[in-house]
Amino acid sequence: MSTVNTLGVIGAGQMGGGIAQIAATAGINAILFDAHTPQLGKAKALHEKLMARAVEKGRMEQADADAALKRIDYNESFDALSGADWIVEAIIEDRDVKVDLFGRLAAMFADRQDVVLASNTSSISITEIAAAAGDAAHRVVGMHFFNPVPVMKLVEVIKGLQTDQSVVDRTIALSERMGKTPLAANDRPGFVSNRILMPMINEAFYAWMEGVAEPEALDGIMTLGMNHPMGPLRLADFIGLDTCAHIMNVLADGLHSERYRPCPLLEQLVAAGRLGNKTGHGVFDYSK
Ligand code: 3HC
Repeated sequence: MSTVNTLGVIGAGQMGGGIAQIAATAGINAILFDAHTPQLGKAKALHEKLMARAVEKGRMEQADADAALKRIDYNESFDALSGADWIVEAIIEDRDVKVDLFGRLAAMFADRQDVVLASNTSSISITEIAAAAGDAAHRVVGMHFFNPVPVMKLVEVIKGLQTDQSVVDRTIALSERMGKTPLAANDRPGFVSNRILMPMINEAFYAWMEGVAEPEALDGIMTLGMNHPMGPLRLADFIGLDTCAHIMNVLADGLHSERYRPCPLLEQLVAAGRLGNKTGHGVFDYSK
């Protein structure tokens, strides 16, 4: 199998930007595509800031940081992705949008059997996304990174029903090359990470709603008592309350069980537009 020289990353948000950054740092060229030009500008500014910090902290030489930044092509043309030999999709968590995108990618790479089409989805079925890729279904795989991508070690590698084992093996090898620790899971709702994390977060909202404790105490108990870096409510703010509610609904639908539905208080905060860090207010207030 050919080595990956150029990674095509779709979506320049937090996840896509982070994926392009770690690829570039690992010596892999990245085409970072986003149709929204200001988003590309934001990603570039964050890359420059994080690389400067890495140099300042002595984790990277200035020349290496400069070379890494040069490896990223910030591009607003979808067609530019045809220059990639591996794709990682990191767009919004919308099933229909992803299905449409994977159909287009399968057409773009119809004659290039080596090109793997990976999705960074946090909960949408890889099997379903792969089905949209038709003949390319066997080379669709889940490559689930964690936020903040440059810091978190894990890549959860998801094998869809149609995914070739050789594609899983290559995904593991590429993740390692990007400095990550890959662990494989099968394609079931929420995979492993969100199957376990999200019900814990949801339960924290129930505990808060029922008056078991106030958010500060609740989070403090989980950070100090369980050694979690963040309490579940602060982590929910970090992930986005809308994303948490969405993933709970994916679990409830996929596992055919109402016990996974989002807590009413979580839904209420989402309805109020309190989505967490990204809106400046979720469980906690970040406006100050
Ligand atoms: N990008 C790059 N680096 C970042 C960063 C970012 N967005 N945020 C923090 N960092 C770096 C900081 O620069 C710092 O590095 P330094 O040593 O050079 O200063 C280092 O991380 C530690 O940051 P801080 O000192 O500011 O703060 P903390 O020590 O509290 O760490 C944290 C911050 C790494 C976010 C830590 O709180 C943590 O690990 N939290 C849990 C994160 C988590 O669980 N993520 C998974 C979410 S679930 C998910 O992504 C899956 C999806 O499907 C829902």
